[in-house]
Amino acid sequence: MIRRRRLRVNETIRSLVRETSLAISDFIYPIFIIEGENIKNPIDSMPGINQYSVDRLGEELQRVKRSGVKNILLFGIPIHKDEVGSEAYNPDGVTQKAIRYIKSSYPEFTVTADICLCEYTSHGHCGMIEDGEVLNDETLPLLAKAAVSCAKAGADIIAPSDMMDGHIKAIREALDENHYINTPIMAYSAKYASAYYAPFRDAAHSAPSFGDRKTYQMDYGNVKEAVREVLDDIEEGADIVMVKPALAYLDVIKTVSLKTDYPIAAYNVSGEYSMVKAAAANGWIDEKKVVMENLTAMKRAGAGIIITYHALDAAKWIKGDS
Ligand code: PBG
Ligand code: ZN
Repeated sequence: MIRRRRLRVNETIRSLVRETSLAISDFIYPIFIIEGENIKNPIDSMPGINQYSVDRLGEELQRVKRSGVKNILLFGIPIHKDEVGSEAYNPDGVTQKAIRYIKSSYPEFTVTADICLCEYTSHGHCGMIEDGEVLNDETLPLLAKAAVSCAKAGADIIAPSDMMDGHIKAIREALDENHYINTPIMAYSAKYASAYYAPFRDAAHSAPSFGDRKTYQMDYGNVKEAVREVLDDIEEGADIVMVKPALAYLDVIKTVSLKTDYPIAAYNVSGEYSMVKAAAANGWIDEKKVVMENLTAMKRAGAGIIITYHALDAAKWIKGDS
């Protein structure tokens, strides 16, 4: 008789034959940095996550350091917003300041800079606006300037999340021209127009003031298009490709992983995080077990890199602390 249960009899045997395990080195932890002084602002819709001003960032970085997580993803929130997102490429902008501070005080961290305009524009869209439309080609030079200014500040990885066409090529060329030939690009390649981003938009003050992002982010009914987006970005010079969100898009991660051998990142987005936190706070689910199950599913689907707000907790659980 075939007895599958032989390999399930105890935890030691189960771990011996487990196909997918999480490692702390898989994680990227997002951090929100707000312009101003002495700020540590809890995000109501994301329990456990705060906005920090640069002068208070050390507190959070110490926590990250203790967890063993080495990769962080930065989102800057400027005070001044305008039509063209000027603060995104201001050498003394909040993001650039944060990068310089982290690279000088905590050089052990690998700093990824999210590149987009929505946190920096008065209208909250990811590109320039004309007659109510998000312009594509006119936006590219602004994104390229933002990428170069973050690289100059010391960013190790550039992560464009704007979903404009041709952005990876524009950014790669600009980085190369400025001699950042060894700065990798992690492209938000298959980024869907998703209701799961709502808590993030509270955290990053980046909700669009009119309309939605459906003319640039992907339609959630599509998966073949995700493969095209990924292959386009690789051709344009991406080093790592991303699928976002993650949990409702495991099939997309899987499909993409069968079509490319490039490293794949999954973004376990804010709404996915908040749902788990809310259910756990009510005692309806066991947070640790659900988080580990979710993150393992993302890796099993084909993502070797997981961007998650749960990173510090998951690192603790991987180490066996409760
Ligand atoms: C900005 C950006 C968003 C997220 C990452 N970068 C929001 C959006 O596109 O509106 C979402 C992250 C999350 O929900 O955790 N382009
Ligand atoms: Zn954006």
